Amino acid sequence: MMSKKRILLCVTAGIAIYKVVDLVSRLIKREYELEIIMTESATKLISPLVFETMGKCKVHTDMFHLGHHEEVEHIELAKRADLCLIAPATANTVAKITYGIADNLLTSTVLAYNRDLMIALAMNTNMLNNKATVENIEKLKQRGVQFINPEVGVLACNTIGDGRLAEPEEIARKIDEYFIEKDLKGKKIIVTAGPTTERIDPVRYITNDSSGKMGYAIAENAKKRGAEVILISGPSSIEVPKEVESIFVNTNNELKQAIEKNFNWTDCLIMAAAPCDFKVKEVSGSKIKKTGSNLILELKENEDILAYFGNKKNNKLLIGFAAETDSLIENAKSKLKRKNLDYIIANDITKPDAGFNVDTNRVKIISKNKIVDLPLMLKREVANNILDLIK
Ligand code: CTP
Repeated sequence: MMSKKRILLCVTAGIAIYKVVDLVSRLIKREYELEIIMTESATKLISPLVFETMGKCKVHTDMFHLGHHEEVEHIELAKRADLCLIAPATANTVAKITYGIADNLLTSTVLAYNRDLMIALAMNTNMLNNKATVENIEKLKQRGVQFINPEVGVLACNTIGDGRLAEPEEIARKIDEYFIEKDLKGKKIIVTAGPTTERIDPVRYITNDSSGKMGYAIAENAKKRGAEVILISGPSSIEVPKEVESIFVNTNNELKQAIEKNFNWTDCLIMAAAPCDFKVKEVSGSKIKKTGSNLILELKENEDILAYFGNKKNNKLLIGFAAETDSLIENAKSKLKRKNLDYIIANDITKPDAGFNVDTNRVKIISKNKIVDLPLMLKREVANNILDLIK
């Protein structure tokens, strides 16, 4: 994140308030700065001290307290915020905001606030579906208020229905999305991720340790930054990022076919997948039985998919990865040239905090004439550095 963004979090008295403590923790980890307002009723559900401690900020609750009044609190709070989020937002507060009612610190501040407002709804299904609430939400939408829709689930009133506050991670994601610069708008990117598998027989296969974390992080951030993204993934347990089109493959051949189908469409291919370098020469059609002696499998080299697309790249940008255990720069540079790439992201997979199956990576971005050495960082931060190359 470039500079710290300040979120004014307005907390009203919905039972889902307990989830907002988790949300605050997630926002702090993402390095947002918070200011929090709670309604008096909200403070009866959770102590402001919890929010103050988790949010590392002052919690404002009272309009008419004595103390420092050199500044007009609700006006200054409204001025300082880059984004105002109401979570959980009760039907009552939604109604007041619709009609410009300013009867407490929270509603007065929202009335004085003149930038983007986000509302995460949480209420009983009947209250949500009541015509009054439906109309209020519609009116606010027309004024440009963004809603984070509630989910269907078990509610505090022991019913199952619509009205449950969205999960904290989903709300945090929406906020990230709001702040992120859409600097890749108009770009069409294919990202490959994860391992491939090559059959030995109907029940066994060869694969590798790739988890897909790096490729999925690239796909997710590219989407957030406004690009159109196709994620082509080998088997992976990671959830496909929201709104990213995905194609699942197993073998190298399936991976190559999936890229081929979309290659004309794309401006950029980022090959973060770890395709199997070898496949079994004769795949057995039936399960290979034990015989009491060793089994020898003959492996043959698989086609280099990236080199194949490097050969027909025209003006497309091609970015590959080099997973190395030794002579990192030398090996990566040779792959850059051999596969006709624009950039290669080299990482030393012998380091425990980089490479396969961890959340961090330490990479060098190598092009024909330049090596950029990045420090240890989260894979999503590495992803953004890679995506900067496309911009
Ligand atoms: N790659 C590919 N097709 C293969 C093997 C690798 O497209 N059959 C791609 C990878 O997705 C990666 C790059 O080529 O972007 C380098 O992969 P890597 O495994 O580091 O190198 P290899 O080319 O396989 O060479 P080696 O295993 O000998 O180091």
